[in-house]
Amino acid sequence: MIKINSFPDPIIEYDFENVYPPSEDTYLLIDYFKESVNEKYFDGINIKYIKNILDLGTGTGIIAIFFQLITQNFVNFNPKIYASDILEEALICVKLNEKLNGIKKKITFIKSDLFKSFPLNLKNTFDIIIFNPPYLPSLDDLNEKERELNIDYSWNGGIKGYELVLKFIEQARQFLNLHHKCYIYFINSSRTNLNDFNYILKQKGYENEILNKKHIFFEDIILNRLTLRKY
Ligand SMILES: C[S@@+](CC[C@H](N)C(=O)[O-])C[C@H]1O[C@@H](n2cnc3c(N)ncnc32)[C@H](O)[C@@H]1O
Repeated sequence: MIKINSFPDPIIEYDFENVYPPSEDTYLLIDYFKESVNEKYFDGINIKYIKNILDLGTGTGIIAIFFQLITQNFVNFNPKIYASDILEEALICVKLNEKLNGIKKKITFIKSDLFKSFPLNLKNTFDIIIFNPPYLPSLDDLNEKERELNIDYSWNGGIKGYELVLKFIEQARQFLNLHHKCYIYFINSSRTNLNDFNYILKQKGYENEILNKKHIFFEDIILNRLTLRKY
């Protein structure tokens, strides 16, 4: 069985002022996929069912490109890959990186604040959604106006740190393909109140499984996988 942990990582150029460079959290996701995707299964789901993958908050595009490159090696893995970000600059960066990796305009780009500008025909279509979001609490000594001016899309997850992720999860359910098992992967941090966060997730009908954790500086970064409870 061919696994992907022997495949080289994508070549990534990230010399853009506001684009998040691939970091520990990015590799927590990629390293998990390297172990859990093979030519037959995508983390336990038959790989033939994976038709649409979304890398939301794509940044440099590393995760979208990583999956696009795998399609060249697995015959039964032919998903359409979407990369979206709120920042125009990120999408320029992804297009550059797509070229650097020899991929000819295969990835579909969407500039959007979460799912706001997604075409309606993408509703109920994504088998896999990945979001390495801004997940840290914002600086609470700022007033509302100062906070808006200081928004940094790569780390600021809201006052508690998980508000943006909750908004994402609320919107994502409309875009998941619920005809079979599908997954949402996302990162969060021990610097937010995880008890409160997990309680809200349960209320919204999601099962959350922690797949991996890494301790860096003053926090644990956590890789999570969500399913809607009916599966
Ligand atoms: C932590 S970075 C992750 C970048 C990349 N996926 C990675 O793992 O290296 C978070 C990304 O989410 C994007 N982002 C932040 N808020 C967003 C929103 N409301 N809608 C879409 N993208 C957003 C940022 O611009 C940034 O590219």
